[in-house]
This record gives sequence, structure tokens and C-alpha cells, in this order.
Amino acid sequence: MALHDQTRKAVSGDNVEIASRLLAWYDAHHRDLPWRVSPRALAGGARPDPYLVWLSEVMLQQTTVEAVKSYFQAFMQKWPTVQALAAAPTQDVMKAWAGLGYYSRARNLKACADLVARQGGRFPDSESGLKELPGIGAYTAAAIAAIAFDRPAAVVDGNVERVVSRLFSIATPLGEAKGEIRGQVERMVPLTRPGDFAQAMMDLGATICTPRRPRCILCPVRVDCSATISGDPERFPVRLPKAERPLRRGAAFVAVRCDGAILLRKRADKGLLGGMTEVPTTGWTARIDGATTEAAAPLPGNWQQAGRIGHIFTHFALELDVFKAETDVAAPVGHFWSLAHEISGEALPSVMKKVIEAAMPGATKKQRPR
Ligand code: ADE
Repeated sequence: MALHDQTRKAVSGDNVEIASRLLAWYDAHHRDLPWRVSPRALAGGARPDPYLVWLSEVMLQQTTVEAVKSYFQAFMQKWPTVQALAAAPTQDVMKAWAGLGYYSRARNLKACADLVARQGGRFPDSESGLKELPGIGAYTAAAIAAIAFDRPAAVVDGNVERVVSRLFSIATPLGEAKGEIRGQVERMVPLTRPGDFAQAMMDLGATICTPRRPRCILCPVRVDCSATISGDPERFPVRLPKAERPLRRGAAFVAVRCDGAILLRKRADKGLLGGMTEVPTTGWTARIDGATTEAAAPLPGNWQQAGRIGHIFTHFALELDVFKAETDVAAPVGHFWSLAHEISGEALPSVMKKVIEAAMPGATKKQRPR
């Protein structure tokens, strides 16, 4: 029996044919991903490791598969089990996460590993049990339940929303269509291979049913797809116009010691970039005045403008004027000097790497100890 034929035996909803076609396509065209157990291996009796599924799903929240791959592999090398991750110092985890963004995920990841390890090292195998854990919301709980434990959970991420709103030509704007989309997914989820089904939907959204120029000709469910049949799949999902991102500005100060060390400090644990490391900056506000220029430098010094960088956060764009000064003063309270060869290993978010690179090109890349 072909793998996909198994889905005909039992389907929790009424979109049997769609799930069946999608699984047949997934058997032949699934992406090979470092955290994934292939359909062939699953059919041969291999089981996914819930730790790997959880780690990959947390990394994949808000981040692309391509960006996640190398981080996932680095984490697996450093911390191959949930107990190993629980035993790691938080700051080491933040350092390994640096560059992936949305840093509250890293703090929750560590808190979750600590809790699971304390409870014997096993992840709960139900959506409701998973949702109790730090950093696991409705989407991630459903994804882990389906992929790691073969539960028929409805896994709905942005890719799935796009696929489903096209399949059924859902004309309601996306923000209000969530319930309708979820209902359609619930009717599609097969009782056999729900984990593969969830991953098939994700792969379809990522490789065929793309936001722009979907490749409908290659789509295994084009005969089911109302938007394809209507000839304008890109019309879906319907979105309301986005509010503009406000622009915030500030100044950032790269103080460099004669041995190449840079002055850094740790951000507050809570809030944006919480627990990450930064060079001193002014506040980030809508204005440019004395409070957002070199006049606000945290140390006396011959501050020179070294450039300006831009960075896009979810809710605002940021422009930072970067100032540099050479100084040998003692680090002020709450600050520390990071030696040239240590800078690449600090928990620096991307925006801070841009700032330091503007003042000292190459400084955030690996350096040999002097
Ligand atoms: N995006 C989020 N989770 C994923 C997964 N398990 N496979 C592929 N893409 C994903």
C-alpha cells in the first residue's frame, strides 16, 4: 500500500481527497530538513525526537527555514538533549541564539528546557499539556503534538493560512478569517499521518503556494483549489492595508580601548532584545535632538560620527547614528569591556552587530586572541 493510501482509512474531517493528494505529493517532494524524519523512515518505524521537534518549532516561530538550519545544527552539537540544554548557563544559550531575533524565544526556550528536565525530561504529548510550557502557544503546541506525537492537531501558521484561503477562496480579511481557516484545516487533518500532513501543508506553502507567483501548475491540490480555478490565486489571502511602521532614532556609542576591547552592557531581561548585549545607546525615540546625539554619550571622549545604520523591527524602524571614541577609562557600573577575540561570542543582536561593524569593520567576526 502506498504511504498516502493509508490516509483513506480514516480522516477526522470531510476533506479526505485533499489530504490524500497532499500526502502523496509530500512522499515524493518533501524537503529534507535537519529536524525532520522522512515519511520513508517513519513508515520504517523511526520516531521523531520531541526535543528536536520542539527546538525546531521554537526557532521557526517568525524565522525562515533557511535562517534556522545552521542555528539548529549548532544547538544540536552543543546541547543534544533537553537535559543538556537545561544544564547550560542562560547566557550561553542567549549567545548561541544571537542573530535569530525575537530574543524572548530564547529565554522561554531555556525556561521550558529547565521545566521539562525537572519533570523527568519528557515533553507532554497533548496540545493542552504542551501549551502549559513557557514559549509554547497554540501554533507550536499543535505542531509538536502533530509532528512528534502523531496527534490529529490543526496546525495553522502563515503558510497554511495562505494555502487554505486560496483553496476555499476565503474573501474575509485574514485578521477576521482565522476561525474559518482553522475550521477548514480541522476538516482536512487525517487521523493517520497528521504530522506528515502538517509538514506537507507547510512545504506546499513554502515551495509551491508562495505569496507571489504561486506555481499552481505543480500543485497537487490545484483541482481542489477554488482560487486557482478562478484564475487569480494571488488575490488570496485578503489583507487589510498595513499600518505604516513608525521611524525611531537614536545614537549608539562604540567605545574602543587601546587593546581593541569594546564597551558593552547587558539589556534588561524583559522587553525588546531582553537579556541581550549592546553597546551603550540613547533612548530610541521619534526625534533627533541633544538626547539622541553624541551629546548623550555615556563617557567623556572624542566622539566622532562613524556612520548611520538602519534596522527593521516588527513594530518600528530604527535609525542609529553611530559614534566612536578611543578611551581607556574603567567600565562604568553595569558595563564591561569585551576583548577583541570575545566580541564574536557575545549575545549581540543583529542591530548591534551592524552598529559595531559601522564603527569597526570586522570586529564582530571571529578574531584570534592577542
Ligand atoms: N515551519 C514551521 N515549522 C516547520 C516545519 N516543521 N517544517 C517546515 N517548515 C516549518
